[in-house]
Amino acid sequence: MEVIISQDPSSASILAARLIAKLVKIKPHAVLGLSTGSTPGDLYKELIRMHQAEGLDFSRVRTFNLDEYIGLPPDHPASYHSFMMKNFFRDVNIPHGNIHIPDGLASDVSSHCEAYEQAIRDAGGIDLQILGIGSDGHIGFNEPGSSLASRTRIKTLTPGTREDNARFFGKPEDVPHHVITMGIGTIMESRTLALLAFGEGKAKAVGGAVEGAISASNPATVLQLHPNAKIYLDEPAASSLERIDYYKWVFQNKPAWQADL
Ligand code: PGA
Repeated sequence: MEVIISQDPSSASILAARLIAKLVKIKPHAVLGLSTGSTPGDLYKELIRMHQAEGLDFSRVRTFNLDEYIGLPPDHPASYHSFMMKNFFRDVNIPHGNIHIPDGLASDVSSHCEAYEQAIRDAGGIDLQILGIGSDGHIGFNEPGSSLASRTRIKTLTPGTREDNARFFGKPEDVPHHVITMGIGTIMESRTLALLAFGEGKAKAVGGAVEGAISASNPATVLQLHPNAKIYLDEPAASSLERIDYYKWVFQNKPAWQADL
């Protein structure tokens, strides 16, 4: 695990965007795993800036989003289809056919989930998966208790997550109870993981994820088993880490040949 602590969300997001840009330049047909929520906003803004100002080319990139609410049509303002269109896809040149987001209206959810897994395999697997973390440690929508080997499937949100996400909906009771999410096993097969977490509200979950015992009770702890997981934090999100000085020292003293930022 590489823990990278920046002053603020914007500088952390720029570092994560550089990692993605580097991948896309080396491998123009890279497969990106994408996430939604408040956290990746600055990251998408920086990637859009790189596309518009520096010509970063996404024309061969394929994408798979982590999750979607069940029951929301793609054009619902709180759907993750809408989020992605508004915050990223409409401003970069990823062909529509290269974009994959679970279908919240799928009539046969299990077949849809199997097909989603197959589409990821057919694309050659995910090269880099962007992740956020819930205040309860969820990744994707894999709530505490999710099997660490789980695959894309239906999940029921916890009341806490419904509350956390109520800000995207008119009324808290409008937050759907069910979602389709990539499983933890699916996420772990990605070649690189880049988890972003900002703000004090994430400090406890981040502390557990990075330094706690691996447990389905804090799904993000599974990242400790991944050979290439990068954790981008701002100072408040890093505030409960015991080895914070060591992580900063490691980053400041990275050998030049190893630096990918
Ligand atoms: P947030 O959500 O970015 O809106 O905080 C993260 C998550 O729930 O994974």
